[in-house]
Amino acid sequence: MEKLTFCCVLLLSLVAISRAKFPDDHHHLPLPRSTFPSVQAGKLIRELNLFPAKDVNVLRDGDAALLDGSNRIVEKQFRFPNVVDDEFGGVSVEDLGHHAGYYKIANSHAARMFYFFFESRNSKKDPVVIWLTGGPGCSSELAMFYENGPFTIADNMSLVWNPYGWDKASNLLYVDQPIGTGFSFSSDIRDIRHNEQGVSNDLYDFLQAFFSEHPEFVNNEFYITGESYAGHYIPAFAARVHQGNKAKEGIHINLKGFAIGNGLTDPAIQYGAYTDYALDMGLIKQSDYNRINKVLPVCEMAIKLCGTDGTVSCMASYFVCNSIFSSILSRAGDINYYDIRKKCEGSLCYDFSNLEKFLNLKSVRDSLGVGDISFVSCSPTVYQAMLMDWMRNLEAGIPALLEDGIKLLVYAGEYDLICNWLGNSRWVHAMEWSGQKDFVASSEVPFEVDGSEAGVLRSHGPLAFLKVNNAGHMVPMDQPKASLEMLKRWTHGKLSEGTAYPEKLVSEM
Ligand SMILES: *[C@@H]1O[C@H](CO)[C@@H](O)[C@H](O)[C@H]1NC(C)=O
Repeated sequence: MEKLTFCCVLLLSLVAISRAKFPDDHHHLPLPRSTFPSVQAGKLIRELNLFPAKDVNVLRDGDAALLDGSNRIVEKQFRFPNVVDDEFGGVSVEDLGHHAGYYKIANSHAARMFYFFFESRNSKKDPVVIWLTGGPGCSSELAMFYENGPFTIADNMSLVWNPYGWDKASNLLYVDQPIGTGFSFSSDIRDIRHNEQGVSNDLYDFLQAFFSEHPEFVNNEFYITGESYAGHYIPAFAARVHQGNKAKEGIHINLKGFAIGNGLTDPAIQYGAYTDYALDMGLIKQSDYNRINKVLPVCEMAIKLCGTDGTVSCMASYFVCNSIFSSILSRAGDINYYDIRKKCEGSLCYDFSNLEKFLNLKSVRDSLGVGDISFVSCSPTVYQAMLMDWMRNLEAGIPALLEDGIKLLVYAGEYDLICNWLGNSRWVHAMEWSGQKDFVASSEVPFEVDGSEAGVLRSHGPLAFLKVNNAGHMVPMDQPKASLEMLKRWTHGKLSEGTAYPEKLVSEM
């Protein structure tokens, strides 16, 4: 009976998909707006208390003042208005190397990618770190102001220095991508991206332009970081950079590692972990568990068909597998699925509304040079355009990077449901590479910050997995000090220094 129902779901999904318009039809969005994915995207955005005025940054004719000029990169040093005096770093605002700019994406029709660049508050010799927020379709400024950037936004629209901003240990870049997200825009709908190839090529081209604008940073170590759906972007981007380096394509980029925070990377394993995590954490009962798990074989089959480069099968698996997640939520009540310790009051889980208020202030827009370009905090259109990418397995390209000595850190806050630590731990352990046996056999050590345990770490060679205590999906927001410490130790190759953890049976592999 159950089986029949889910076969019907699969069929219905296929029917829905076959009726949808596909990206090669350039004049239409990939799916009609009323379908399930846009409901999902809308939910995502409302739960962050964001209300972007536009659902994608695609300009109409005549509203493209910033399209003038042939420079590949247009950057300015800026100073945010309303910065409350620095009590922490002793750096005067005048000394800061804070830059914002637009890069004209090389392989696009008319796309401009917006970015922030904050020189390190510590030393210009610190690594260059790029941060990517997920969604897909959410602006990296969300992380910049609520997680690991130099400032936080006070309710009176002042900026207050963040004592744990990652710019205390790195030269820090935030980009708005894929195109259509944040302040990034195009005047041509064909520039909307549908897969990691498009995303990673744009990011690679951006880096080339960035380092030719800032040659003084080209020899610094370079690290890729990010969160959530960036669990897809990051491995693809790292592989693209490595490939460019090996082929001597452009400027050599000193890629040393990549870090994924509460990411979605290997959907077959991670969707299989939802019910186990939910049962362990008391979100569902055993009877719910048994019932919901009946979808798993169908979901797993669908993801297998999707593989690393499927199309229609990937869309089908998105629909089938997400029924697992929505069944858990319907049993678990009004939890915040980014942090199960919290309730989702009303329809809002977090209040990020100050971000939109702040970035729409005229004084701020003037200092950034964004003209009249809308700020699209999270774009439902970009989200929908990436649906075929969702269930693809991005773990596949990682072993080759590890074999070449490029480091990977996967970290996860313990209370996140949507990209939970259990699913992440499982794919990291299951990944086949030359160090797999030693990684799995190595003992866990406490990750200590100020003498107390901030997490539990397992590492071997270039690979590390860190489960972060007392944190949800957004680790740098919940544990700012521990997350800065993590970045420092990881980039300095000292992540695993610490006392030995007492040997014990570990339930997860
Ligand atoms: C705005 O809020 C910040 C942080 O609470 C405070 O330091 C600052 O003095 C306030 N500014 C004004 C003008 O009230």
